[in-house]
Amino acid sequence: MKNTIKLAKKTLFNNRRSKYTLPTNTKLYPAQWNWDSAFIALGYSNFNLNYSFKEIETLLSGQWEDGMIPHILFHIKDLNYTPNFKAWNCGKKVSSSGITQPPILASVLRLIIERQKLSKKKIKKYYSFIFKIKKCLEWFIKYRDPKKTGLISILHPWESGYDNSPLWDKPMSNIKIDMKLKYKRKDNKIVDSSQRPLKIDYDRYVTIKNHLREMNYDPKKLYYKSKFNVVDVGFNSIFLKALKDLDFLLDCIDESSSFIKRYIALNEKNLIKLFNTKKMIFKNKDLKNNTFTKIPSITNFFMLYSDLKNKTVNRNLIKSLKKYCKKEKYLFPSISPDHKSFEEKRYWRGPVWINCNWIIYQGLKNKDKKFAEMVRKRTINLVEKKKFREYYSCKSGQGMGAKNFSWSAALYLDFILN
Ligand code: GLC
Repeated sequence: MKNTIKLAKKTLFNNRRSKYTLPTNTKLYPAQWNWDSAFIALGYSNFNLNYSFKEIETLLSGQWEDGMIPHILFHIKDLNYTPNFKAWNCGKKVSSSGITQPPILASVLRLIIERQKLSKKKIKKYYSFIFKIKKCLEWFIKYRDPKKTGLISILHPWESGYDNSPLWDKPMSNIKIDMKLKYKRKDNKIVDSSQRPLKIDYDRYVTIKNHLREMNYDPKKLYYKSKFNVVDVGFNSIFLKALKDLDFLLDCIDESSSFIKRYIALNEKNLIKLFNTKKMIFKNKDLKNNTFTKIPSITNFFMLYSDLKNKTVNRNLIKSLKKYCKKEKYLFPSISPDHKSFEEKRYWRGPVWINCNWIIYQGLKNKDKKFAEMVRKRTINLVEKKKFREYYSCKSGQGMGAKNFSWSAALYLDFILN
């Protein structure tokens, strides 16, 4: 245990560049990623508060004028990643991608502030962080729900953070691949290609991306024109939690927003409708094709994380989650092994991801302490045995993907030190 703690800190230090931290020190992800950085900042907060706030500051330095925080910030013009900064061709202050990722940062900042028991005066020092997070969450409401339905859309599978999840199979199946595509993947040369997304997935990712670029990433147009527009349960759950935590943060600096408060109520009401308590199933809305998709994904259970007020729904969610992982030795498979789309080793189509376990744990800890503790212990054991891999098999525990993966190290620290 002590050794793994030491090793986790070392892993983060080794992956750290001057003001931010790479997802891994291999060549796989040579830039700053949005939700990775939020998890990393939380990890640092357990032993080096300066690095933690620096990580956040650097992430926020790439925020666009309209409020969006991009999913990748290319602080260094590295060409080793596909699509690289030239292929995206955007970001004014910092070269970036033109899409976003789950807004975990609000909740991370709240956790740090609460755990450190920072005084009101000290919290006010972080006024600019809170203000930028507010602008980011307002951007989602304005541009990702322009029709004021109460639910937020994502416009590219990469925005979810669970890139090739079977959740996107149906919405992606209708996308015609651009025949003139020119790009060269590098990821499947670094990691075994049997663990990475397929060529057809990448062709579609790049087709959507190029189309967004053709529209100059204009947020007013994208919602209506993107080839992909999905209301995802997991993403909305993280978003709802972020709104609630922003509300808390605003209160800390004697501010408040009735706009945010109203959207919390609307989002909560509509999120619950995506869970059918009788059949115990979740549905995503594919707005492009006007259909629903029902895939048993761990990300659906992020609903526990949003701290819904409705106790019956929470109870049913927990019941359903217990069933979801009943047979597995290693928690949590990203997709239920009983589903036909499950693949033991392929990225987001089955493997265990430590960030998902952490999100679920946060959701469980104030609702079912015993179950939460079991998740915590089993996650810690897995990481201590297999170290900081990008993902793990739910059948054998085998570590896969990148080695020295930052969020696995950061969240291991968070699990064990709190
Ligand atoms: C992959 C993951 C995404 C992560 C990124 C960097 O794209 O799917 O969730 O943020 O790698 O680790």
